Amino acid sequence: MDAIKAGIIGCGNISQAYFDAIKQLHDMNVVACADINMDAARAKAEKNGVDALSVDALLARDDIEVVVNLTLPQTHAEVNRQILNAGKHAHCEKPFAVTREDGLEVLALARSKGLRVGCAPDTFLGGGHQTVRKLIDDGAIGRPVSGTAFFATPGHERWHPNPGFYYLKGGGPVFDMGPYYITTLVNLLGPVAEVTSMNTRKADARIATSEMANGQVLPVEVDTHSTALLRFESGAVITMVLSFDIWKHTNHNIEIHGTDGSISVPDPNFFKGPVMIAEGGADWREVPITHPYLGNMRGLGPTDLAAATRTGRPHRCSGELAYHVLDVMHAIDDATARKGYVSVTSRCDRPAPMRADLKEGYLD
Ligand SMILES: NC(=O)c1ccc[n+]([C@@H]2O[C@H](COP(=O)([O-])OP(=O)(O)OC[C@H]3O[C@@H](n4cnc5c(N)ncnc54)[C@H](O)[C@@H]3O)[C@@H](O)[C@H]2O)c1
Repeated sequence: MDAIKAGIIGCGNISQAYFDAIKQLHDMNVVACADINMDAARAKAEKNGVDALSVDALLARDDIEVVVNLTLPQTHAEVNRQILNAGKHAHCEKPFAVTREDGLEVLALARSKGLRVGCAPDTFLGGGHQTVRKLIDDGAIGRPVSGTAFFATPGHERWHPNPGFYYLKGGGPVFDMGPYYITTLVNLLGPVAEVTSMNTRKADARIATSEMANGQVLPVEVDTHSTALLRFESGAVITMVLSFDIWKHTNHNIEIHGTDGSISVPDPNFFKGPVMIAEGGADWREVPITHPYLGNMRGLGPTDLAAATRTGRPHRCSGELAYHVLDVMHAIDDATARKGYVSVTSRCDRPAPMRADLKEGYLD
């Protein structure tokens, strides 16, 4: 069967990873790209052998069925609406939207048009995370009871050429890194039912020290350190720390502790391992990775969406999953503001696991 044709809107930093990964997959081909900055679109088009178009021209192309939205968080919902209104399936970078209202509107629009909407991250489709998923589903650690999740950095102003947005609404460690951590946990444990948190910030302004922004004063609108407790519908309880205020630490990315053992989950920003397990009172041991896709395969998510349109099966990086993650991130902020527990009302299904025997380049 011919590959489904796709377009990319937003030809910035992350776009090349998508071009590179999608070239390795058989179900979808990128044929055109667009950006409000035509120079950016032209540069990516030339490098990748596709057409450079305006956003309107890309959306008017009859042969394009799926559009990948790699614009900035503040425009994800708006561009998703444009894509869906043009009659095409949409997959966007994270977060799904900035507000819950925008997220719900995009879900409703897709439903009303009979189209699909998907969202990053797709790192949980990688071999490392799918190996963990299979171990947990097979009962290797028994029933998951508790766990920890840690992301910590001293701040992006030390390296990013334009770091201001990290400290404005829609930024901060919860909205920037939360999608990776929460999506990974939902893939393993199912949806979150309740949240509490204590968020704080070390300063109301920060000074950039990166080469391009050195000396810039960055106003801080959001909390930059979050300590949250997530109670999953399954009963499992996870302590999650997401911080731009930590110099150094020795905590592991994610650990899950079950009735019969503990498992150490790889970095949710990547697709690969290592995966470590400790059954009962045994020492940690590294487990062989059982599933394909270990490199930087950002692009698996939208290609899975394209492949799913052929068989009618659900796509894994679904809008419902991304909206649930957005709802949890807002609940974390709400819990700090209200000084209490916040119920999470949205729900999503766990995405179907990937098959271990998939041939590289295929999703079914
Ligand atoms: N850079 C990374 O390492 C990285 C990693 C993972 C995820 N992401 C996510 O990917 C998204 C994009 O990040 P980036 O680093 O590529 O940003 P970027 O600023 O480099 O690129 C964004 C591009 O989108 C274009 N754009 C903005 N609004 C548009 C619109 N309405 N229509 C068409 N084009 C528009 C901009 O002109 C720009 O070229 C963000 O949501 C970010 O969180 C980035």
